[in-house]
Amino acid sequence: MLGMAARVIREARPRRGFGGTMAQDGSRKVYVKSYGCQMNVYDAQRMADVLAPEGFSETTEMADADLVVLNTCHIREKAAEKVYSELGRVREMRRDREAAGGAMQVVVAGCVAQAEGGEILRRAKGVDLVVGPQSYHRLPALLDAARVRPVVDTDFPADSKFDALPQPRPERTRQRGVSAFVTVQEGCDKFCTFCVVPYTRGAEVSRPVTAILAEVERLVAAGVREVSLLGQNVNAYHGEGPDGAAWTLPRLMRRLAETPGLARIRYTTSHPGDMDDDLIALHGDLPAAMPYLHLPVQSGSDAILAAMNRRHGRDEYLRIIERVRAVRPDIALSSDFIVGFPGETDADFRDTMALIAEVGFAAAYSFKYSPRPGTPAADNVAQIPEDVKTARLHELQALLDRQLRAFNAATVGRTVDVLVEKPGKHPGQMVGKSPYLQAVAFEGRGAQAGDIVPVRIGGLGNFSLLGERADIEPDRESA
Ligand code: 5AD
Ligand code: SF4
Repeated sequence: MLGMAARVIREARPRRGFGGTMAQDGSRKVYVKSYGCQMNVYDAQRMADVLAPEGFSETTEMADADLVVLNTCHIREKAAEKVYSELGRVREMRRDREAAGGAMQVVVAGCVAQAEGGEILRRAKGVDLVVGPQSYHRLPALLDAARVRPVVDTDFPADSKFDALPQPRPERTRQRGVSAFVTVQEGCDKFCTFCVVPYTRGAEVSRPVTAILAEVERLVAAGVREVSLLGQNVNAYHGEGPDGAAWTLPRLMRRLAETPGLARIRYTTSHPGDMDDDLIALHGDLPAAMPYLHLPVQSGSDAILAAMNRRHGRDEYLRIIERVRAVRPDIALSSDFIVGFPGETDADFRDTMALIAEVGFAAAYSFKYSPRPGTPAADNVAQIPEDVKTARLHELQALLDRQLRAFNAATVGRTVDVLVEKPGKHPGQMVGKSPYLQAVAFEGRGAQAGDIVPVRIGGLGNFSLLGERADIEPDRESA
């Protein structure tokens, strides 16, 4: 997760490695750099799990790596272009290693790999393997083949990668922390006119309930206390249940909540069109469901929503928010916004600003519209000039930034349950997350990763809320 301030206004930043390093002497080392969404973070972990039995351990230093994997994002042009500049840097590293008698294999994975395939080999020298997100279970065989000549695998194989991906050892899971991602659904059938996802990740596929339960039970047995269920359209989940029926996301969440030791469940990303009654109700009656909802609206203008093929209007969105707030008044709301979609007038933009003002968001991601080749909106003649997009983005982010600050400021003076994640920067300090996904730093005083402790929020730091444990008397402890 990005820091709180960054979550509001920045485009997704690259995440380095897997969050932890493990250098086993004598083993080969893999360095993975993930860009874009949380699903890529999950995929990066699963790639490491496939490679672990092959003798690969993870490193956070590219220069030490026998294998470099760039796990790419294709959602906007800027994200996609980053790969090519990074590949230039990788090529230099590879040259240095080879000059010193070593070797380095280079893999481009993720959505750029899926979308551009062999074009990557033509544009960038020194790539051994281009592999799409559906083929990670074949990595060892593909790497072997790529020793002879460069390989491209962007198939959508009939066998599910999920069935074929090995599970990590419990120690590896523990190293990754107390909060885990679990992809439950991939792909998208919605075809918003700006979006490449239906093309890069393909049609909606939901994992079967039993496979998800088994994965979550294994995670919890290794110490995980919180799972975030991931899907490009996670609330359209309709995986096969043990009874043969298609289960919805709320049904899956209610079943997962019965897992002893699992304290928190989150889900992302949702589409307003799939916010059904049961999912809304669950926010009011399932304690494990965290009071946080990421529900992208993209625009507050009905005309733009229609042009985006979002399949809902502004009022429909506002009604959903009203209903969620009726069952869970304190819920933290988050959204994605696109400014400068083709044809967006000043009045359309004002509608978006008014919607933001009406809802009040705790977090948001906002972007300038980026034309993606092959999507309908890219061919629209009414493209918006860059300087207009920039001005709108700044104005919108300033408002969202104020709302985020207000949301955090409103937590000051309250006591919130914090899921403890790890030691903080200062001696004795621990950091974790509030139910609203705010980072919280506090004097640990015996709190361990995985504990859930009440913390009285006393103030706001740069990247986290600052507080004191509310379950220990300060005076008696320090005496
Ligand atoms: N341009 C700008 N933003 C985009 N997104 C998706 N496609 C584009 C695009 N072409 C944003 C949407 C989506 C988020 C993941 O990325 O806001 O919800
Ligand atoms: Fe893209 Fe729309 Fe599908 Fe989200 S719902 S992944 S924005 S096409």
